[in-house]
Amino acid sequence: MIRYNKLGYVALNVTDLEKSKDFYENIVGLEPTSQVGNEAAFFTCSRDHHNIILYQGEEPGLVRVGLEVESSEQLDIAFEHFSKAGLNPQEVEREELKLLGQGRSIRVQEPNTGLLFELYSDIVQLGKEFKPKLTKIARLGHFAIFANEFDSALKFFTDVMNFKVSDYIEDSVVFMRIFPNPYHHTFTLAKGDERLHHVNFMASDIDDIGTARNRMLNNEVPIVFGPGRHSPSGAIFLYFLDPDQMTLEYSFGMEEFPEMNPRKPKSLEHSLEILDMWGGKPDPRMSSVGRIFGKEVSAVD
Ligand SMILES: [Fe+2]
Repeated sequence: MIRYNKLGYVALNVTDLEKSKDFYENIVGLEPTSQVGNEAAFFTCSRDHHNIILYQGEEPGLVRVGLEVESSEQLDIAFEHFSKAGLNPQEVEREELKLLGQGRSIRVQEPNTGLLFELYSDIVQLGKEFKPKLTKIARLGHFAIFANEFDSALKFFTDVMNFKVSDYIEDSVVFMRIFPNPYHHTFTLAKGDERLHHVNFMASDIDDIGTARNRMLNNEVPIVFGPGRHSPSGAIFLYFLDPDQMTLEYSFGMEEFPEMNPRKPKSLEHSLEILDMWGGKPDPRMSSVGRIFGKEVSAVD
C-alpha cells in the first residue's frame, strides 16, 4: 500500500489573483516563491517550492491536492495500484513538471467528488528556510471537503488511497491521516454537497492564534469560527475567510499517532461541544464557498 510523507500542497482557484496574492502573503503569512504570468502564483511555508498554488479563474475552488510520498518507488506502487483499481492514473507532462519544480508526478481522480490528487516524491527545495513574518506557520496541516456520496468516498480514501481513520463524528465527519504520517488528520471528509470545507495551517505557538485573531479584526477579515478548541484532536483553532470567501484555518496542537499499534478510532457525538469545547458557534459563511474542480482546471496552459 502507498506510503505518504506529508500533505505537499493545495491548489486553489481564485477570482482575483492580485488581491489573493496580497492576502496569502500579508494576511496568511506565506512566502511567495514564483509566478506564471497572470495565471498562477506559488507560495511556501516550508523549504518546498510550494505548499499553496493560486490559479486565476472564474470561480473559487479546490483545483487539486498534492501528496508527497516516501520515495520514487512509491510512485510505481501507486501507479500500478490506481491502474488495477481502474482509475486511469495520468503522468504529469514534463513542461508542467518544470513549472511545478517537481519530479515525476501522477494524478488520479476521486470518482465520487471529482477531487484530483497528485502524488510526487521530489520537489525543489529552496535555498533558504521559510522565515515566518506573521503567524509562525509550522506546516500546511490539512484540508477538508464535503461529499454527497459520503460512504463510497470514504471507502475510496481508506481502500484506494490508504488513508487511516483517526476518529468519526457519527456518520457525518471522518478525520483521516495519510499513513504513516502521524498527525490526527491530514484530511477530513464531511457529509454534504460537494465543495471545499477548509484548508489548514498549523501554527507553532498558541500566541499565534491570538495574534492572528487581532490581525484579522484589524484588517476586516471575517472570522467565521473561533478561537476555540476542537474536541477530537485537541487543537486550538481560528477559521477565517479569504478574499473569495473560501475558509482557511490556523490551528495549534494536534494528537499524533504511532505507525504501529495506533489507538482505535473513536465515534464522537455530533454536537457543538465536540466542534468547540469552549462553546463557540460557526458563522453560516464558514465552509460555504469552494467548488471542487477535478480535471476541469488542472494545468497552466
Ligand atoms: Fe481543520
